[in-house]
Amino acid sequence: MSTHLSEEDARNADILIWIDGRLTPRAEATVSVYDSGFLLGDGMWEGLRLYEGYWAFIDEHLDRLFGSCFAVGIDIGLDRAGVKAALEATRQANGMHDGAHARLMVTRGIKDKPFQHPSLSRSGATLVIIMEHSAARPADARGTALVTVPQVRGTPMAQDAKYNSHSKLNCVLACLQAERAGGDEALMLDPHGFVNTTNACNFFIVRRGQIWTSTGDYCMNGVTRQKVIDLCREHGIPVFERNYSLFDASTADEAFLTGTFGAQTPVATLDGLRLGRARERASADEAPPVLPGPVTTHVRALYREALAEDRARQRLRSNGRGTDR
Ligand SMILES: Cc1ncc(COP(=O)(O)O)c(C=O)c1O
Repeated sequence: MSTHLSEEDARNADILIWIDGRLTPRAEATVSVYDSGFLLGDGMWEGLRLYEGYWAFIDEHLDRLFGSCFAVGIDIGLDRAGVKAALEATRQANGMHDGAHARLMVTRGIKDKPFQHPSLSRSGATLVIIMEHSAARPADARGTALVTVPQVRGTPMAQDAKYNSHSKLNCVLACLQAERAGGDEALMLDPHGFVNTTNACNFFIVRRGQIWTSTGDYCMNGVTRQKVIDLCREHGIPVFERNYSLFDASTADEAFLTGTFGAQTPVATLDGLRLGRARERASADEAPPVLPGPVTTHVRALYREALAEDRARQRLRSNGRGTDR
């Protein structure tokens, strides 16, 4: 069971997809087989979530998108207002207000020949927005089953994990390894063997009231990850970005994943061990801990407040400046 499951919604069969300024019915929405994204995974993307008409933490997402594209020499072809306008046009065309998710993708564009060199991409970037009705269905009661996998997220000089690039083979391999071992998602270590991240989300543990996450050196610089860290600091919850091992993770009181799609998703088991049980003698007929745990629940409440504040900020800005939202 993926952490990116949402309620089935028949309306998604008829969504309109933004492709370079055109809104195209899903069944006809295609890009060229010469596209850099298709040929090489040469592109960057953002996953965005819509709450009450506003894209959550849109500025942080656009900072990451524009930064990544700048660093690899992809000219998006639009400024920030242009990207926001594309999102807004797609949102309106699909009549979405809440419970929607967008995958906004920018590739280096169509190539003259099916080879790697970036200079062969001459026609400008391809921008695609897939926007789906997506009421999140976090695996709350059951929780996510994580499995530690051999695939690591490597060093920045191999492929910096901070690029949200189209080429996700590293993460896909990890996900396959987890799935074959009966897990929902893969827990990936860093090159030194410390607990790092999962194949699609960032990872946090709770130990004796403290929240720990990896140093951040080898994982996606998740917008939700940073929000959780900032909120903990703001509200006096001890939070540490540090090295820690599978011992610390498997003896944690709680653990949760973060990502724009699912916000904070509770973890039930790690490598078959039920979390939150390390301080007790495990007995087979005992009821499992109720998920999400108390600290995860607190963080979620703070996150919901932060989302509302972000919406209020965006609303104020759009009232002042017309259509920029
Ligand atoms: C590998 C990976 N980790 C973590 C995340 C979560 O990032 P965010 O909180 O910005 O959605 C993503 C989302 O794209 C991801 O692809």
